[in-house]
Amino acid sequence: MNQQKLVAAAHKAKQNSHSPYSRFRVGAALLTRSGKIITGCNIEVSSYSLTLCAERVALFKAISEGHRRFEAIAIATDLKEFVPACGACRQALLDLAGNIDVILCDAKKRTKKMRLKDLLPMPFDDSLLHHS
Ligand code: THU
Repeated sequence: MNQQKLVAAAHKAKQNSHSPYSRFRVGAALLTRSGKIITGCNIEVSSYSLTLCAERVALFKAISEGHRRFEAIAIATDLKEFVPACGACRQALLDLAGNIDVILCDAKKRTKKMRLKDLLPMPFDDSLLHHS
């Protein structure tokens, strides 16, 4: 995996963030197993709860373009600390992308790599849907 390229793509995607309410810019770059990078940014709506996180924008873009196998996601913000994906995005990523690497990127382009399952221990998943 070319981690530097993925981190750079996440920071670049952040520039497209539409976040007039929070002023909190987030960029995400999702790496497919075939080596393609699909990016996303957070997009805020005046009815705040309709807002989409950068991670899910990237994930749903990728799925809609036919990608099904993933390796990693880089998440970039303007903060000095590492910002992990929100709980909703962790669930969506684990369901649709599996236990991928999550590369957290701070404003100084430092990184911290984690496994998604470590960010979401004891997840709900589709195996539980068949236990009725
Ligand atoms: N946000 C993301 O895009 N990803 C996260 O992991 C956390 C939060 C966005 C949503 C909203 O536009 C802004 O950051 C503040 O919550």
